[in-house]
Amino acid sequence: MRRRDEPTPPAGLTRRRRRGLVVLGVAGALMLPLLGALLLRGGAAEARTQPSPSFARDVAPIIREKCAGCHRIGGIAPFPFRTAKDVASRAPLIESAVRDRRMPPWPPGPRSPSLVGQERRTLSARERNTLLRWIAAGARVDARSVGRPAPTSPKPRPGERVRRLTPPAAYVPRSVGGATDDYRCFLVDPKLAEDVFVTAARIEPGQTSLVHHVILFTVPPESVADATRLDAQAPGLGWGCFGGTGIPAPAGSGIGGSLDDAPWITAWAPGWGSDRFRDGTGIRLAAGSKVVMQVHYNLLNGRKPDRSSAVLTTVPASAGLDPIRTMLLPGPVELPCAKNESGPLCNRTAALFDLVRKYGQAAGIVPAGLLLLCGKDAASPPSGPVSFCDRRVSTPTTVHAVAGHMHLLGRSIRIELNPGTPRAKVLLDIPAWDFHWQAVYQLARPVTARPGDVVRVTCRHDATRRRLAEPAAARTPRYTLWGEGTTDEMCLGVLQVTRP
Ligand code: HEC
Repeated sequence: MRRRDEPTPPAGLTRRRRRGLVVLGVAGALMLPLLGALLLRGGAAEARTQPSPSFARDVAPIIREKCAGCHRIGGIAPFPFRTAKDVASRAPLIESAVRDRRMPPWPPGPRSPSLVGQERRTLSARERNTLLRWIAAGARVDARSVGRPAPTSPKPRPGERVRRLTPPAAYVPRSVGGATDDYRCFLVDPKLAEDVFVTAARIEPGQTSLVHHVILFTVPPESVADATRLDAQAPGLGWGCFGGTGIPAPAGSGIGGSLDDAPWITAWAPGWGSDRFRDGTGIRLAAGSKVVMQVHYNLLNGRKPDRSSAVLTTVPASAGLDPIRTMLLPGPVELPCAKNESGPLCNRTAALFDLVRKYGQAAGIVPAGLLLLCGKDAASPPSGPVSFCDRRVSTPTTVHAVAGHMHLLGRSIRIELNPGTPRAKVLLDIPAWDFHWQAVYQLARPVTARPGDVVRVTCRHDATRRRLAEPAAARTPRYTLWGEGTTDEMCLGVLQVTRP
């Protein structure tokens, strides 16, 4: 089936041209001048209806604004688009990446609502069409350079203070067990003598070619000792962390408490989404809080020492903003081994004991806790690739931003309000999950939920994805349960809300 915005002209053009050549071959020398004239005129008529795009006028601005933020020298992408030649020489690759919508990377699918920054990060049908037509017409260049992308660093507003949080030293990313990614947590100190609201948060990567994405977590004063201990116990700067920070929830917060007010700030990927929280809202940080910066390094681009900073913009708590709270919507993961897999850990009980052995008693209780939380039968867990969990909203809630979180076996995730009712609304739909591209997406229009409304998270996992997992040790077949590690999974919706 043809997508509505798929360009038709290039295919037609090449087909017609080929037919022209065949005719030319059989026509004989006498007919040549006449046919040549006809062909030329046919070409001119086509050009009138669909002028082939100019690189300088049409293509370069798209590459500059939508691609060159990552595709630059020292950027996260594998090659730069700096000169016209850089672009033209990759035309066939660009064709397939743009046609299949792999580039620019933007995980939310068409069922997602409109998201802040989406126009800046995705190609419009017209832009996609322009790139494809230019390539089909031979990717000719009429300029030398793509030009520089406009700087996007947001300016602080009056009354805001910019705090740069930098780890004490540089960290050299390293590979564990041959993995091509390193996930490292750094404890940084915003030096807060008073309570503040964070109004914007972004990352300034030290090594732009290595820093793939970053998640920022708050460490409330009561958890600072735990975080400091984790940091001290691990050799080198910071500590290895894959799914979360590994910092236990503060004692006494209770499962419910931490689910409705989790210590998240934001997730950041190069040039994505909005750094700024919605006007009038902010994340409250108590005096004495610290911040964990979880950095995902892509080791395919090398191992240079990195010293990235988190940059927070804050206002004093007396500004009286609406505090943004982070609601976590976890769903159970009960994923049996794939059909062609076997091994001792394919047994659920054995896999559960393995979790306890690796992470302690508490980790072993989580799977049953999630089944109970989500109203499932903990005695005979419903297992399979798809899992969902409904949570009832208890107070009026305005949803501002949404994220999904799974690990390496994730296929798709959806977060929706009141599914199956006339008031159903998708908050985020990621049809092709990629662990390597995570972000918090801000809704263009906030959505309000009333008490009694249901928020559902639905995850699809795929055990066959294990054969691609890094490091190689993560490929051991197992009945996969909820856990922090590369071999475990998560099914987590994240909502950033205010409660008027
Ligand atoms: C947010 C960063 C980012 C943006 C924006 C981006 N790319 Fe990429 N691109 C990457 C990364 C990283 C890779 C390496 C493969 C991967 O990690 O998915 C890549 C790979 C590619 C590849 C080769 C591999 C493949 O998937 O076919 C092409 C071609 C490409 N990009 C073209 C583009 C074009 C054209 C645009 C703009 C329309 C664009 N990219 C925008 C980050 C980006």
